[in-house]
Amino acid sequence: MFKLSDEGLKYVKNELTRYEVKQSAIIRCLYRAQDENGGWVSPDVISHLSAVMEIPSAQIEEVATFYTMFNKTPVGKNHIQVCVTLTCGMLGGRELCDSMMKEAGCKKTGDVSPDGLFTFSKVECLGSCDTAPMIQINRDPYTENLNTEKGLELVRKLRTAGGAGASGKGH
Ligand code: FES
Repeated sequence: MFKLSDEGLKYVKNELTRYEVKQSAIIRCLYRAQDENGGWVSPDVISHLSAVMEIPSAQIEEVATFYTMFNKTPVGKNHIQVCVTLTCGMLGGRELCDSMMKEAGCKKTGDVSPDGLFTFSKVECLGSCDTAPMIQINRDPYTENLNTEKGLELVRKLRTAGGAGASGKGH
């Protein structure tokens, strides 16, 4: 059963005071809860937030479903989003993603690698086309100007680091 930490609870209560309409706080509170729940929004997360925020769970679920940054299934410690459209697509984004997934031991996007360290998603343009191909790990700053070799290197580095994101931050 998911429950926010004391800090998390304080954060959510504070967010609720910041907006005229409390629904405006849903996104930031979902982010916080997702971080505390190992990187994904489970049904438990929705019901807990609903109780704490006094907002119907359907409204919270609607937001979690609409925005792609909320994961509806468990993810590895490093959720790697690889841009595969437009410029990134033309410059090898798909191949990059496939090679990194293979190195990490993921058979397909959405899988959690056997060591629990990786999940990959293929995503639409992240707005950094001039540094294609690029990826985002969890919510870290973008990792850009990649090629297959650099991508493989990155997976190995993250594995050696034992799971912290590139900058050591959470999801
Ligand atoms: S096409 Fe990949 S960031 Fe825009």
